Amino acid sequence: MTAPLIDPFARAITYLRVSVTDRCDFRCVYCMSENMTFLPKKDLLTLEELDRMCSTFVNLGVEKLRITGGEPLVRRGIMTFFRSMTRHLESNALKELTLTTNGSQLEKYAQDLYDAGVRRVNVSLDTIDEGKFAEITRWGRLPQVLRGIDAAQKAGLRIKINAVALKGFNEDELPTITQWCAERDMDLTWIEVMPMGDIGNENRLGQYWSLKDVRRSYEDHFTVTDLTERTGGPARYVRLEETGQKIGFITPLSHNFCESCNRVRLTCTGELYMCLGQEDMADLRAPLRDHPEDEQALETAIRAAITLKPKGHDFDYSRQKLDGQMPRHMSHTGG
Ligand code: GTP
Ligand code: 5AD
Ligand code: SF4
Repeated sequence: MTAPLIDPFARAITYLRVSVTDRCDFRCVYCMSENMTFLPKKDLLTLEELDRMCSTFVNLGVEKLRITGGEPLVRRGIMTFFRSMTRHLESNALKELTLTTNGSQLEKYAQDLYDAGVRRVNVSLDTIDEGKFAEITRWGRLPQVLRGIDAAQKAGLRIKINAVALKGFNEDELPTITQWCAERDMDLTWIEVMPMGDIGNENRLGQYWSLKDVRRSYEDHFTVTDLTERTGGPARYVRLEETGQKIGFITPLSHNFCESCNRVRLTCTGELYMCLGQEDMADLRAPLRDHPEDEQALETAIRAAITLKPKGHDFDYSRQKLDGQMPRHMSHTGG
């Protein structure tokens, strides 16, 4: 038996998030500036390297793999990679293979994803108003995403909508987005906006809408019951009695959930980040490329990296100033 990955705070690392590209076909205002410089292709892990990397993590006890980006479905050949991970589902080593996407390419790929063994997809969608969608994503168009969601549901994929809570932007849409998700039997999770990356002239503090306020806003429209159940992720849940819906809240700022963190993040260039909100990282590309036939060096590098996992992030907007700001963009570490 291989020893599992356990970090210095006795947390078992069973969840790997993998950013397969830093590129995206949208330019969400809280995520990117309009003129982004992307990484040169030669720096990216090839599809074969991604396979070796993920397979090594699976051998070390990772049970859940989430593919992210940037937008993962704009990476050329990405379905080859998904299909190559199917073998780990079939062997039962991997319990879940999934992705977080902006939905723009789902119409094209939904069936292929299902066929590769994906069963749940998280779609990032902050508004269901066409004009506002174009405004927040700059380059995105809502009907394309809605067609993608339709195709995904038709293929049998369960959808979770992730909405970033943005003050003065989607506050007024809370009941409509909620109702829309209920009608389509989709889960919904709200996320607090985190200080990640330079986003040009946008103002983070102005964007921040605490989920404590979002919860209060739900109470104006629905009967809200707190649920104690946890799914191993950072979200906490409430049930809306009128619709029977479960709504998730991811609150890195207003309520820290780091004590139960079970995840690490691999960037598209093979750096392993131990926390979304800290700089601690290890280069895994060198041990991978230097030893093409042997995963021992990679395994040793992964174990050494896990000993560096910090207790948690330092994001903080209190006192009307921004602490814990990360220079990295979310698209680099994969959210
Ligand atoms: P489920 O499998 O549905 O529980 O997914 P998940 O919540 O782990 O993944 P998802 O991609 O839906 O995560 C949504 C967002 O929550 C991410 O893009 C991040 O913004 C935030 N998030 C997820 N995990 C962490 C974490 O460990 N720390 C922080 N600060 N934020 C996180
Ligand atoms: N804070 C919170 N969430 C963010 N996302 C991107 N940037 C940020 C940020 N600064 C979200 C996207 C998507 C996921 C990958 O991360 O909306 O749901
Ligand atoms: Fe692309 Fe997601 Fe960033 Fe929007 S939030 S620009 S969809 S990576």
